[in-house]
Amino acid sequence: MKINSFKGLISYITGGSSGIGLAIAKLLASKGSDVVIFSRRIDALESAVTDIKSHCISEKQRISFRVLDVSKREMALKILPDAVKEYGPPDILINSAGISYPQEFVNIPYDKFNDIIQVNLYGTWNTIDILLHHLKAKKGYIVNVSSIAGLVGIFGMTAYSASKYAVIGFSEALRSELKRYDVTVSVLCPPDVRTPMLEKANKIKPQEAKAISAAAVIMEPEDVAKMLIKTMAKGDFLIIPNASGRFTNIMKRFFPGLTEWVIDRKIKGVRKRDNYR
Ligand SMILES: NC(=O)c1ccc[n+]([C@@H]2O[C@H](COP(=O)([O-])OP(=O)(O)OC[C@H]3O[C@@H](n4cnc5c(N)ncnc54)[C@H](OP(=O)(O)O)[C@@H]3O)[C@@H](O)[C@H]2O)c1
Repeated sequence: MKINSFKGLISYITGGSSGIGLAIAKLLASKGSDVVIFSRRIDALESAVTDIKSHCISEKQRISFRVLDVSKREMALKILPDAVKEYGPPDILINSAGISYPQEFVNIPYDKFNDIIQVNLYGTWNTIDILLHHLKAKKGYIVNVSSIAGLVGIFGMTAYSASKYAVIGFSEALRSELKRYDVTVSVLCPPDVRTPMLEKANKIKPQEAKAISAAAVIMEPEDVAKMLIKTMAKGDFLIIPNASGRFTNIMKRFFPGLTEWVIDRKIKGVRKRDNYR
């Protein structure tokens, strides 16, 4: 399905209570879609719903939430079918729920790695697995949120990059399988975006990781949402919402050695500056 009008459609958005997911939810509401958001913290969900409602264009639109930890399969198996019963099956599923822990490999405890994979990868698998028959019936649209760190392995992102590369591989295979059912699959790869996740990450990021992303433009979540919605009209698979991100992807694909050299130089520079080993 290539979407030109969102009026009357039903959108399910995991991670819709904050950041990129919330910006997408507000934009979809402003285009006439019903929206159901899913995440763990009820206070954040409640205030997000109020915010999203203020963007609706019709009183008939339904904006709702369900508390859901996407990494918990048993919970997802209960909550998602309940949501379908109450709000109707989704035309659009956006998997934006995600977590990060930008630290050097040696400083990432196994439990943190496990959490990141469980939320970013298994969480995406869970929602799609449980909702797929509805998405097939409606010839729906699935958007999985990966990252530029899913296209380039970045210092301090071993766990995060592993999860986001996996989301791209999963989405690519799924796109191929679901084409015959007219279900569209896209993967969104934002660069750094001004959200609570980035703010938290910047507090613990290694200096090397900061140096690598220093030159990159930080996007606003609203601009990422606009680019996504615009691209959904074409049904493109890979959505990189800004020019510097697209440039990074081209460099990595066609000049991997040069890309490594540039990144290694930045790391070397910061280590020299800070008198590291
Ligand atoms: N910000 C960036 O620079 C950036 C760049 C590239 C990609 N991304 C990706 O974009 C997506 C959104 O990130 P963001 O920056 O918007 O982060 P954010 O503002 O921290 O929002 C993350 C959302 O995910 C929810 N969430 C986290 N763990 C969850 C779980 N186990 N189950 C259900 N919901 C969960 C959070 O709510 P609760 O905590 O209440 O559950 C929140 O609603 C993520 O997949 C992230 O990896 C972000």
